[in-house]
Amino acid sequence: MDRFSVLGGRPLQGQVTVSGSKNAALPLLAASLLCEGTVEYQGMPELRDVATLRELLQGLGAVVEGAGSAARVSAPAEGPTEAPYEMVRRMRASVCVLGPLLARRGRARVSLPGGCVIGERPIDLHLKGLAALGARIEIEHGTVVAEAPPGGLRGTRVYLASRNGSTVLGTANVMMAAVLARGVTVIDAAAEEPEVVGLAEFLNSCGACVSGAGGNRLVIEGVPRLRGGMCTIPPDRVEAGTLILAAAITCGDVRVLGCRPGELAALLDLLQRAGVPCNWGEDPEGGGGRSERPGWVHVSPWQRRPQVLDVVARPYPGFPTDLQAQWLAFCTVGEGLGLVTDAVYPDRFMHVAELNRLGAGIRREGSTAMVFGPARLSGAPVTASDLRASASLILAGLVARGQTIVRRVYHLDRGYERLEEKLRSLGAAVERETDPEPP
Ligand code: EPU
Repeated sequence: MDRFSVLGGRPLQGQVTVSGSKNAALPLLAASLLCEGTVEYQGMPELRDVATLRELLQGLGAVVEGAGSAARVSAPAEGPTEAPYEMVRRMRASVCVLGPLLARRGRARVSLPGGCVIGERPIDLHLKGLAALGARIEIEHGTVVAEAPPGGLRGTRVYLASRNGSTVLGTANVMMAAVLARGVTVIDAAAEEPEVVGLAEFLNSCGACVSGAGGNRLVIEGVPRLRGGMCTIPPDRVEAGTLILAAAITCGDVRVLGCRPGELAALLDLLQRAGVPCNWGEDPEGGGGRSERPGWVHVSPWQRRPQVLDVVARPYPGFPTDLQAQWLAFCTVGEGLGLVTDAVYPDRFMHVAELNRLGAGIRREGSTAMVFGPARLSGAPVTASDLRASASLILAGLVARGQTIVRRVYHLDRGYERLEEKLRSLGAAVERETDPEPP
């Protein structure tokens, strides 16, 4: 098992390019199951979660070719329809094959994902939407068994919000099922995340008829079939946000290239209000469709200590829950008291205890973390509990005095492409090592 060794105290400097988005790539890959022709992907990030989904698609009878950032997937109409526990346990997002399998092959068996370290993560809304499309759904021995009615799925109207707001993969799953249903489907309280927009644009490029993506009501006119096509994975807004916060926490001077600043508006606004100088712009070419335009963000060194500000993580366009842990790490260099609340995952605070081991002054009360800054962080061994928690501990390590060892970085490899190399290229002292300790 690998671990990271981070030597703190170096302001980051230079420029760095963002990779393709994990959370966009996963549903886009699953969508290949809907297409009669081959789908050619570009800009695919090399991540463990992407490898897991490729493996799952192969298990479902798809031919998956290509290496590095390119992939080609051809999925036949007939084939296996089961996503086993072994796969779903490794990666919850395996659940996004449910909608496509049901729509194209008429049935699906997908193991129930259960909870995870960031909290309870039910899929009741995915199932509600699919049932509304006419699927018969049963839970047998921890597995969702779904079957389309004779004649196939049929258009419907469904409201998809949970008590914590909309659902990203739930919206994706129901949208993917509805594109091949007979008639019109309306999804209300749909997720507005850029990943949903990217998926709708791709499906439309293959012949689907989805409108309203980016808003909270999706209208999907079913079509009999989808063809294959080209798909470029959009840049990872969470990786971009993590790199921006890495620059800000170290008082660095960094240009983050290949991101979409419009998708980072909540973070950039917060940073500016906190007193971190940052500016951004769009590339003269590129963009199109409903997606935000590609561009860059430049973080400059702060002259006066930033202010700690309150923030609530909410569904898009709110501040992303996937940056909550990294923001909390950033707050330790700021001045004052801040309340950081996660309204999407109220239990996503496993990183608090580890940040406190480094000397942070964070207290958790329910779904809120109270952070008192500034803290004098000092390096220590810490253990990463999940993907974004790993990133927040590395950020803290960048400013802690001495050496921080972040254990269990396999979480990080699920969702960040070569983060240590990117940070090193900006001058950070980060090394990947084999962990001699037993896990
Ligand atoms: N929810 C329900 N019922 C459902 C589905 C969701 O109650 O059927 C609740 C969840 O418990 C949560 C809220 O709705 O409180 C939002 O969850 P959502 O369904 O939007 O999460 P997701 O689609 O499973 C994706 C990302 C997560 C990210 C969330 C929120 C992928 C592969 N995962 O998960 O990313 O945190 O949206 O933005 O796209 C990460 O990358 O580290 C990560 C966890």
